[in-house]
Formats: sequence, C-alpha cells, structure tokens
Amino acid sequence: MRSAARTPGSGHRPDTEVVFDPASYTEGVPFDALARLRRAAPVVWVAEIPVLGWPEGPGFWLVLRHADVVSVLARPKLFSSALGGTQIRDPATPQALAYVRRMMLNMDPPEHARLRRLLSRSFTPRAVAKLEDRIRGHAAAICDRVIVGPSGINDFAKDVAADLPLLTLADVLGVPEQDRWLLFDWSNRVIGYQDPDYAASAEFDPAQGTPMAAEALAVRPAPDDQGRMPDPRTREGMPDLYAYAHLLAQEKRRRPGDDVMSILLAQADDDGGHVSVAEFENMFWLFAVAGNETLRNGLPGACIALIEHPQAQAELRADPALMPLAIEEMLRWWTPVMTFRRTATADCEIGGQPIRAGDKVVVSFTSANRDPDVFEDPDRLDLRRHPNPHLVFGYGPHFCLGAHLARTQMSALFSEVLARTSALAYQGPPSYLRSNFQRGVKRLPVTWTA
Ligand code: HEM
Repeated sequence: MRSAARTPGSGHRPDTEVVFDPASYTEGVPFDALARLRRAAPVVWVAEIPVLGWPEGPGFWLVLRHADVVSVLARPKLFSSALGGTQIRDPATPQALAYVRRMMLNMDPPEHARLRRLLSRSFTPRAVAKLEDRIRGHAAAICDRVIVGPSGINDFAKDVAADLPLLTLADVLGVPEQDRWLLFDWSNRVIGYQDPDYAASAEFDPAQGTPMAAEALAVRPAPDDQGRMPDPRTREGMPDLYAYAHLLAQEKRRRPGDDVMSILLAQADDDGGHVSVAEFENMFWLFAVAGNETLRNGLPGACIALIEHPQAQAELRADPALMPLAIEEMLRWWTPVMTFRRTATADCEIGGQPIRAGDKVVVSFTSANRDPDVFEDPDRLDLRRHPNPHLVFGYGPHFCLGAHLARTQMSALFSEVLARTSALAYQGPPSYLRSNFQRGVKRLPVTWTA
C-alpha cells in the first residue's frame, strides 16, 4: 500500500520518501508528513530508495500508531530482532548479519534472556547508588567548568551535553576517565555512516590516554580518500574498539573493580557458565553506542524544548519538584531514538494490514509518541503531562537497560543548569544530524545568564 500523501514544498516527493531520507532530518523531523501518514493508515509501505551511496533496499512497513508499536515490540516471536537485525538498513553480507546477532540487542528469547538476566543482576542496588552519586558530581563539575561569570555563550551539545554520558559510561564500564573520548569517537563512527561529519571522528587525544588506549589506536582504521571508514557494523570495521574491550576484560578479570562490568565478568549464569570474552566485547560495543549517542542527543533535545517554550522553562525554574515529570515530557517531545526494526517470522497483520513472513517492520517511536489517540494535544510540550506512556525507551523484552541512568543524568544536569542560570536562549540556530535513526544535535549555540 503506497501512500500518495506528499509534503508541501518538498518538490512533490511522497511523504514516505521524505520520512525515509536521512537528509530530511537536517531540517528537523518531518512531523507533518508523519502525521498525514498516521492519519491515513496505521502502517505504510516505505520504499528504500538509494540514499547516501547505499544501494536500494527491499522496502519496509512503517508502524505509526502507539498501540501497534507496543503490540509489535511485545511479540518477539512474531517480530524478531535476530532475523535481520534491528536497523533499517540490512547488514551488507550474511557474515555481517551473523556478527550483529552476537549482540544482545539483536537476539531473541530465550538466547536474549540469559545475557539480559546476567547484565540486569550486575546493576546491583549498591552499584546503581554509587553511579547516581557520581552522575550528580559529574553534572556539577561540568557546570563549574562551563557556567562561569555573569553570562556566556556555549555550544550546549559539545560543551555541556557530550561529556556527561561519557563520564557515566566510563563509570559503568570501568574505563579509565582519560580514555573516555575513545567511546565518543567509536559511537560517532557507528552513527556517522549517515553523516560525514561523524564518520572519521577523532576527538580523543592519544597523549592523554592509557597504554590500553595506545594499543587500541595502533589498529584504528584510517579513512579512505573519500573520508569513509570501513563499515562499523562489522567486526573488521571496529578493530580498535575490540582491541580495547579485550584488554579491558583481561584487566577486570585480573583486578576486578566495583563497576558493573567487573560484576558482570565475575557472575555465573544459571548453568554455572560465565560471560565469554566474545560476549563481553560485544556488550562493550553495545554500551559504548547505546549509552552515549542517545543521551548526547537527548540532553540538547531537552534544552531545545526549554528554549522554545520559555513559559515551560520559567515553570520548571519556579518548581524544581516538577523535574521528574518534566524529564518524561522533554524525552517524549524530543524522542532521541526515532526507529527500531524487526522482521516478521510468519504471515500476520498489523492494524489490519497483511504482513508477509520475512517483511521488514520498522516501528516509529517519533510517530507513536505524538499519537493523538494516546496523548492529548500531542505536539504541545506540557511539563505536567501525566500519565505519559511514551515509548522513548522501547517496550517489551528489549526495553532500554539504561533508562534509569539516562533519567538520572538528565535530571542531574538540568537541576544544575537551571539552578545556576536565570535564562537560556538560542545564540544561533541548532545544527541537526543527518540520520533517520537518531534525532541528533550536532551544535546548539546558547546564551545563558547567571
Ligand atoms: C535518552 C537516552 C536513551 C534512549 C532514548 C534509549 C533508547 C533505547 C531503546 C529504544 C532501546 C530498545 C531497542 C529495541 O527495542 O530493539 C534501548 C535498548 C538498550 N539500551 Fe538504551 N536508550 C538510552 C540510554 C541508554 C543508556 C544510558 C544505556 C547504558 C548505560 C543504554 C543501554 C541500552 C541497552 C544495553 C539496550 C539493549 C537492551 C536489550 O537488548 O535487551 N541506553 N535503548
């Protein structure tokens, strides 16, 4: 079922094409196109036209309504994460597919449950309490560094938002702090296959790193003459990350710390087995990307929400107890992760639309989080919105493992920023990431007044 709806002023391109094309998102999310599609049908067929040098793909069903997104994600047997992975773009080769399937994100039950259980148990109440404490300390230290004097101008994305997820991840993974910008470069490379600014990211300063970092950098791939790096969704594409993860696991087994990964490596599963080196390395990859990119976009996204709604900004300043509800609403309004993909394992239907076994099914969190059947006046930012059943962190067995840490980081950072300033405003226009997966902010110039 192809949609004939078109985006005004977009050269008569079909809405489905506008929604698919990563380039659309540099101008902002095409919310009007999504709303037209959602009104017309619960599920639409999206052609995968060739973009950014990738070949044409087979196309996919885009699931637009909240109830249908929940129903897809709640049925992993019918809508598999493993069959074709969880990204819209198919892995380039069968080997590349086999590789991503070693990551928990791309596993189905019961295989998925074993790793998930081991990992969940490693976030012990003691480890989480310590992480929360450290997060509050990091947020205060970042603001001490950036918010100095009576007023100032900063790039909120780079100067304020980028470091907190890295510092937190370094604590979770037990990575020495001086190596944390390696995590930044790795996650940029993974996300950067859609945006050339990120593809060959090299923010890490080797002079500051540990000997583990030096060993990893020795095998870092170089960009080709077009500035492209090897496919980061293959093991060969990320040899430096794997070298580092390998050394880190050795170190943690030799000298366990009180970080989550040390606890994980020391654990036995129900059959007495341990997390293998390969499992650890893949978990490290997943955390380095999932725990970084998402929040580094969510934090500026929330800042944009407050800048564009001065009334809401004033309300939150006047009533800090509103913070927990406000975080949920800013997350819903921004929705940092826009889509995830599943593959149908059998003929079925979604919202009355027949789906065939083997079809790609992509859920749109961006659309579901603005579904008027669930959210009254969905385009409005309402910091007191309650209940707020958004799907920012997914739903079902793969529900985000870092949701609590993400909320804690947002709350810690905005509590500090709002307590130290009396006004936040744009200094210039934000610059958005070219991606149909992450709603990313590359630059966010803001002025603040103490
Ligand atoms: C605002 C920030 C974040 C957003 C929007 C977000 C979003 C998501 C979503 C939508 C999923 C579900 C994927 C699926 O259904 O296939 C997910 C899974 C996951 N997230 Fe997050 N995430 C965030 C922060 C974090 C953080 C801080 C961490 C780690 C410290 C993390 C670790 C993970 C992991 C390990 C999974 C895989 C869980 C599984 O497969 O069982 N995330 N995240």
